[in-house]
Amino acid sequence: MLKALKKEFFQHLSAAQAFWYARSQAEYMKACSFTEAWDEYKTRNEMHLYMHHYFFHSLDDEIKSHRIYYKQDQRGFGEDAFHAMWFTLLNEFRPTKCLEIGVYRGQVISLWSLINKRLGVESDIHGVAPFTPSGDQVSVYLRNIDYHADVLSHHRHFGLKVPFLLKAFSTDDIAINHIKSNRWDLIYIDGSHDYEVALADYQICKEQLAQGGLLVMDDSSLYSDYKAPMFSFAGHPGPSRVVQEFAMKELLFIGAVGHNNVFMKT
Ligand SMILES: C[S@@+](CC[C@H](N)C(=O)[O-])C[C@H]1O[C@@H](n2cnc3c(N)ncnc32)[C@H](O)[C@@H]1O
Repeated sequence: MLKALKKEFFQHLSAAQAFWYARSQAEYMKACSFTEAWDEYKTRNEMHLYMHHYFFHSLDDEIKSHRIYYKQDQRGFGEDAFHAMWFTLLNEFRPTKCLEIGVYRGQVISLWSLINKRLGVESDIHGVAPFTPSGDQVSVYLRNIDYHADVLSHHRHFGLKVPFLLKAFSTDDIAINHIKSNRWDLIYIDGSHDYEVALADYQICKEQLAQGGLLVMDDSSLYSDYKAPMFSFAGHPGPSRVVQEFAMKELLFIGAVGHNNVFMKT
């Protein structure tokens, strides 16, 4: 009982903090590209605040309503700021061959598709996931959902092209072969949070990124300078170790929004 009350109190407090951070602030009232924003704000905290503000004051209504839709009925994870991050990244770098590892209910792949449709960019979007409730050491997912049908239904809801969905764990041979048989302009790693799997995903994706391609690692700022506000999350140990031990040393770090770290292959 006390635990439930505490949880509810925390939820109200973090919602109030998110609301306060979203108030109109002159210093954030400019529509920067991702690179311009990182040049200007320079830290994960400042960048997160800028993108949170961008979501409420600069982002296109259709993209905002995509986030509002995915926040209902536990359809997606993440934070409002990440919709602004994806818009600024896709608008600036225009990736066409895109891959997500760990699709869940399709929030990110459908967002990419929606943004690219608005930008008039023809893209080829792939998702690799078991399309079951398979979790890991730190995550449990909803049962009783046909995840494959669910992802397709959300694409239909937004009138989006059907993505290429591969039903497999990223460590299965069929998934490894699929990732290896392409050069990717953008890869988002958000599958298993277990260190060994996150590392295997990172290693194969790093190899298969095109020159100038982007790799975004979710949930990976735990061992960084990011001090997450109450309505945000710094990350999980597995992906955060991969970023700290490998990505920071092997790829060009071009910025971060909260727990999403963005790298470029140069
Ligand atoms: C955190 S969720 C992804 C959330 C999604 N990106 C979003 O924004 O809503 C992680 C997903 O990865 C899936 N998953 C777990 N292990 C995986 C693996 N080895 N390969 C691919 N997907 C995996 C889970 O079943 C889950 O659907």
